[in-house]
Amino acid sequence: MSEIRRVGVVGCGLMGSGIAEVCARSGLDVLVSEVAPEALRAGQDRLTTSLAKGVARGKLSAEERDAALSRLRFTTDLGEFADRELVIEAIAENEQVKSEVFATLDKTVTSREAILASNTSSIPIARLGTATSRPDHVIGIHFFNPVPVLNLVELVPSLLTSELTATRAARFATQTLGKEVITAKDQAGFVVNALLIPYLLAAIRMVESGVASTEDVDAGMVLGCAHPMGPLRLADLIGLDTTKAIAESMHAEFKQLAYATPPLLSRMVDAGLLGRKVGRGFYDYSG
Ligand code: 3HC
Repeated sequence: MSEIRRVGVVGCGLMGSGIAEVCARSGLDVLVSEVAPEALRAGQDRLTTSLAKGVARGKLSAEERDAALSRLRFTTDLGEFADRELVIEAIAENEQVKSEVFATLDKTVTSREAILASNTSSIPIARLGTATSRPDHVIGIHFFNPVPVLNLVELVPSLLTSELTATRAARFATQTLGKEVITAKDQAGFVVNALLIPYLLAAIRMVESGVASTEDVDAGMVLGCAHPMGPLRLADLIGLDTTKAIAESMHAEFKQLAYATPPLLSRMVDAGLLGRKVGRGFYDYSG
């Protein structure tokens, strides 16, 4: 089994930049793509800020930060991914766009050994696999935000993923990146979001119906259950657009009310109040 050294990350948003960071910190050659130069610059800034935070917190040295930065390259052209041994797609939760990316990667990535992975939390891996001519090499590798801090990776083989692909992906996540792996079936939400999203939606409904304030709902879970952050602050961290997109995929899959988007969440997304990444969601981060 050849070791994976050249990684591509498609998308440099919250998750993509975190995934690129942990890959570069693990000594890998990392190529990151975004659709437009502005998005690429924003992603690059996020990544640099996170590395600086890691240094400030004593998690890595200034030399290690510089070495990680030297292993990262950025592009707006997926055509440059030809020599990648593993590509992790981490763009927005939109099935059509993701499928197009997988079809492009299928044509671009030359090694037939290469793994094409998605960081999706809710879109069926089998559908992304069938957008390619190599569904046996397509798998879900789902990270958690903030990626440099949270140790979990969910591994999601589809019905078409080969055992070798699953074994290599697991080895990459554990041995190369030092993450802990759990394996889940290819159904929307996998393990963590299947439990987390109904909880976040229930908290939003609580605020919507006036049971308690945003601050009190969050304080309830932080002080009463020792969660590191309350559900509304966590929804802000994930991004309210992402939270809504995951809920919609899960609702489409299971048709259960627990996954139905509360009107308050829809209106906040309509209004552009997407959470921490834009400076305002349930909380104001502009100050
Ligand atoms: N690199 C390395 N380590 C870092 C770092 C970086 N860039 N930034 C922070 N850290 C470390 C800190 O050093 C600290 O470690 P220590 O406890 O050993 O000193 C730890 O991370 C916490 O950092 P901070 O003190 O800066 O921050 P907080 O204590 O306020 O914690 C938080 C922030 C990590 C976000 C914490 O509140 C948390 O874990 N919240 C829950 C997040 C969560 O549930 N995420 C999952 C979302 S679901 C998801 O992602 C799936 C998707 O599909 C939706």
